[in-house]
Amino acid sequence: MSKPTDEEIVYRRANHDDPADRERILGILREYLTSVGEPGVADARYQWLYRKNPALTAYTFLASDRATREVVGLTSLFPRPVWVHGQTFLGAIGGDGYVTPRYRRRGIITRLHSEALRVMSDRDEAVSFMYGPPEPNNLKALLHAGASRVGQVQRFVRPLDADGFGARVTAHMAQWAAPLRKPLAWALSPRRSKLRLLELGDQPDARVDRVWHATVDAFEGTKHVIPVRDAPFYAWRFGPSSEGGIGRQRGYLVLDGETPVAAVALERHEGKAAIVDVTAPPRWLARTYRAIFDACRDVASIHFEVHTPCPRLQMTLYRLGFLPRTSKPFQVHVGPHHPAYDALVRPNAWRYMWGDGDVTRVL
Ligand SMILES: CC(C)(COP(=O)(O)OP(=O)(O)OC[C@H]1O[C@@H](n2cnc3c(N)ncnc32)[C@H](O)[C@@H]1OP(=O)(O)O)[C@@H](O)C(=O)NCCC(=O)NCCS
Repeated sequence: MSKPTDEEIVYRRANHDDPADRERILGILREYLTSVGEPGVADARYQWLYRKNPALTAYTFLASDRATREVVGLTSLFPRPVWVHGQTFLGAIGGDGYVTPRYRRRGIITRLHSEALRVMSDRDEAVSFMYGPPEPNNLKALLHAGASRVGQVQRFVRPLDADGFGARVTAHMAQWAAPLRKPLAWALSPRRSKLRLLELGDQPDARVDRVWHATVDAFEGTKHVIPVRDAPFYAWRFGPSSEGGIGRQRGYLVLDGETPVAAVALERHEGKAAIVDVTAPPRWLARTYRAIFDACRDVASIHFEVHTPCPRLQMTLYRLGFLPRTSKPFQVHVGPHHPAYDALVRPNAWRYMWGDGDVTRVL
């Protein structure tokens, strides 16, 4: 199909305070989420992610067919403060990019991303950049619209018993290496940790702020970029009411006695666990991971995704028994005149994990 002319498709920013726009967004969001196997979650997701974000209401961009007025595409920016070398800027997670099948490959999502960049480059706008690891076709569109590829996110898995290596390895083992199962299970099983995990609720907990401040104090003077993981963020993103109560990622404090040393978020599903966030000063990291293993000893494997691990973090992960898996490109959509442009497009700067994105089911 040929590219639509400017007259055929209308591109604009939606107004979440306008009931008619809310219905338009919900209509196409329901279509999108049903197409990715999540029917029935659109309304709860909209209220939670678009409207109740403690940072700011989402910025949503719509494409409509001028002739029929049908909404045929959308994309959103979910605002999120980001710590950049000690300064905080309001960035956004990019998400829910979708074009209805009949209108694909006509440049529509590319135009929506260009429109988002134009708005973010306006000095009067609160949100000034967007980031995330998009799906391959959306990445191409983002790069066309001016985004920069900034390193990658890498997956890891830590088996906690012989089944945790995955079905293929387990089948081989049953056939050839059955005697190895027991010693392997012993070697993989987590050691007892002195630290304990305490589940967090829906109200911001000042102890999460203490952990967050200790974390950024430890990074003071470094060139890191870290999405802010403070108490309001934790309560909203990982509290029991997240996503209208259907979210399954939960926040925990990690305590040494009564002292909070880390904040973590976990997802559990069908005998697996995923670490979706770990916020801790570097000196507590290895002990925090061990405390998570101890708290998850009922699962077969623990999954984890992190932005381009620096050699030191990579060594820590190997020592803890994590095995590397697939990787996926990460992008930052930011104009060249942004005051933190150089920092934001530096691949080794980013400290990004699953919980920093909008994906609420990673298992
Ligand atoms: C991904 C998606 C939003 C792309 O929307 P779109 O309007 O068709 O994209 P565009 O026409 O702007 O395409 C931009 C570029 O992306 C690439 N691209 C898009 N769809 C592609 C496809 N199916 N196969 C190969 N390349 C594709 C092409 O490079 C294209 O540029 P080109 O046409 O000049 O070659 C749309 O396919 C979609 O809704 N997919 C399902 C939901 C989804 O995956 N969302 C992304 C979540 S991160």
